Amino acid sequence: MVDRASKTFFHLLAHSGVLKKMASRYGMRHPTSFARRFIAGETVEEAIEAARALEAKRLHLALDLLGESVTSLDTADAATREYLAVIDAVTRSGIERNISLKLTQLGLDVDKASAVDNLRKILERAEPAGFFVRIDMENSPYTDVTLEIFETLWQQGYRQIGVVLQSALHRSERDLQRITALGARVRLVKGAYKEPKSVAYQTKSDVDAAYARMMRTVLSTGHYPAIATHDRAMIDLARQFARQHNIAADRFEFQMLYGVRRDLQMSLVKEGYPVRVYVPFGREWFPYFMRRLGERPANIAFVMRAILGESG
Ligand code: FDA
Repeated sequence: MVDRASKTFFHLLAHSGVLKKMASRYGMRHPTSFARRFIAGETVEEAIEAARALEAKRLHLALDLLGESVTSLDTADAATREYLAVIDAVTRSGIERNISLKLTQLGLDVDKASAVDNLRKILERAEPAGFFVRIDMENSPYTDVTLEIFETLWQQGYRQIGVVLQSALHRSERDLQRITALGARVRLVKGAYKEPKSVAYQTKSDVDAAYARMMRTVLSTGHYPAIATHDRAMIDLARQFARQHNIAADRFEFQMLYGVRRDLQMSLVKEGYPVRVYVPFGREWFPYFMRRLGERPANIAFVMRAILGESG
């Protein structure tokens, strides 16, 4: 995890309209372009192709049609229709049926009831087709409402759904008990957003310590949890804890992001652990891409090399 200043800087860049326009124009066009390392492409066909390449390496996948913070119901409806088309395309393709989405992509900022309706439309198409649908966790103003919507749908009988908890937030250890009591699946992450100290740990060591505590809890009491991290120390802790407590390798999975620590993904597969790669795609890739750059300063050098290499 990177320091706060870098997270803040990229948080600001992520909201720059001018940069977003420039990036959309140049970022993905060339097959070797800089955004391609982290984003599988702009179309579902490209995402399916990337997914097939991962499956050939015995990796599992979760497709994520990028998009967030939509400001009109028309855009939210369009995103919902796009998701339905993704479900159909994935079903036809024969790749694994597993998707992730964000509630602000479905209109949560505009009207909660419409966002829930949109999510229900997606679940109505996805569940009978055997999909698992993970609701990503956005920044802390959305934690309560995301968990509340998740619990409502769970009570209504949707079972092929899961949620995400961020160890950076003080509240998450309590939320973990609440979600585990439902019997639902949790993806445990550190948290990708810059958060105030009133709600979140501010140092890497505190976030890591909370991650380690939550990981032990979720491995012992959770329901097929996802340990989503690229942090070697956390992964080693998980393996060690699972071994010590006789938790078989197929009772949980590791998850990592497309293009990040591919070496580690493959070494875990070789050791017999299920590893799922989160495969983001779509035209709205800029905020996601900025979060990835903000996580690791070395990525900026990678982008600069790619830009200079392409133009030179
Ligand atoms: P940490 O940031 O400490 O990094 C550990 C090591 O991993 C680094 O030293 C580096 O080697 C490598 N690394 C990490 N990020 C990298 C990058 N961008 N590029 C290159 N190397 C990198 N967050 C959230 O708030 N809501 C969500 O719904 C999700 N969903 C999600 C799904 C999946 C499958 C994953 C893996 C992650 C998320 N995240 C997320 C993101 C998560 O919160 C976190 O920001 C990143 O995973 C980075 O944190 P690490 O746990 O990898 O540790």
